[in-house]
Amino acid sequence: MTDPQIHKGLAGVLVDTTRISKVNPETNSLLYRGYPVQELAARCSFEEVAYLLWNGELPTEAQLAEFTDGERAQRALTPELKAVIDALPVTCHPMDVCRTAASVLGASHELAEDSSVQANMDKAVGLFAAMPAVVAYDQRRRRGEDVVEPRDDLGYSANFLWMTFGEEAAPEVVEAFNVSMILYAEHSFNASTFTGRVITSTLSDLHSAVTGAIGALKGPLHGGANEAVMHTFAEITESAADGDVAAHAAAWLDEALAEKKKIMGFGHRVYKNGDSRVPTMKASLDNMVKYYDRPDMGELYTALETAMGERKNILPNLDYPAGPVYHLMGFDTPTFTPLFVAARITGWTAHIMEQLEANSLIRPLSEYNGAEERHLP
Ligand code: SDX
Repeated sequence: MTDPQIHKGLAGVLVDTTRISKVNPETNSLLYRGYPVQELAARCSFEEVAYLLWNGELPTEAQLAEFTDGERAQRALTPELKAVIDALPVTCHPMDVCRTAASVLGASHELAEDSSVQANMDKAVGLFAAMPAVVAYDQRRRRGEDVVEPRDDLGYSANFLWMTFGEEAAPEVVEAFNVSMILYAEHSFNASTFTGRVITSTLSDLHSAVTGAIGALKGPLHGGANEAVMHTFAEITESAADGDVAAHAAAWLDEALAEKKKIMGFGHRVYKNGDSRVPTMKASLDNMVKYYDRPDMGELYTALETAMGERKNILPNLDYPAGPVYHLMGFDTPTFTPLFVAARITGWTAHIMEQLEANSLIRPLSEYNGAEERHLP
């Protein structure tokens, strides 16, 4: 029995205010700077949403033009960063490459030790611009494919897909990818964002905070879940040789629950009546199932969701539809969480800058329950 004053996992504990986003489990809604995320996903580019998260307002046409010019000018990987990535074994997890890249970008930044508002905004845009090239380059090198240089005539999402696959993606695919980036961008004080705020609260630099946040996001209880969803789908598909996906999904789930396993892509610390982002991401999945003519993926998704609903009142979170969308687009499964990194760079850096506005060192207390005081003989 823990002391009632202890809030394990900080569950339900309010630690600060934020103006960046509002997660409301009662209304099952998510606002980015006051705008419902569903409206932003349907009508904005990820560049516009990034600008909104950082500045509090959507950009004017002129502001957007200036912002995208700056972003497009920073997309290419430097030879030094490529050399560092090449030095990492292809057997390491792609999240380790993202974490290392954030660190290298910090170490080599001309304003590395400058934490002024302008310097941090420059750093945030630099990470936003460069992370897609890191993710794309890493997947290609693992496949033995040559680097594809960024194109400054393509928007963020179209360019991300271009650098990854070496061909221009269809508008439907670009649209689904853009939606996924917007939905993944920001979610108040989730574990990785709070990690970034803790690091920032000591007045450490932005890249150190982002590096720590990437480390937190890697875990399967957090960002790593989208990759884990695909491992689940692969196991069920393998066992469903007879085509009875529903039966095999149910059997797989019964075994996993019997072993007290956490089912990846389901549940949420804040949303208890479903993740507000799922309907929008699921609609994109339906579009991708149609575009790639993969009804089997839709069937698998529904089979496991139905089986889970019949057994536990634990609903899908964003990672559940996001994983299959990225799979259908052709991303390798270990690349899924790096895609989450690329999107969340915006939310993380917005929170880092907000933390600095009215900073207070984050240092909670602990209740000691170790050995009673004693002394050396
Ligand atoms: C993200 O915080 C954010 O906003 C994160 C995120 C973001 O945008 O930044 O939304 C992104 O991280 C989404 C979550 C991705 N993770 C997963 O899909 C991993 C599987 N999910 C679980 O690990 C779990 O649901 C958590 C960690 C996400 C939240 O769980 P909590 O709050 O620690 O646990 P809970 O109080 O919700 O669980 C209550 C009960 C427990 O059972 P008992 O031990 O009381 O018997 O429900 C069970 C849990 O074991 N439970 C699950 C489960 N989720 C909760 N059981 C099986 N499978 C699950 N997925």
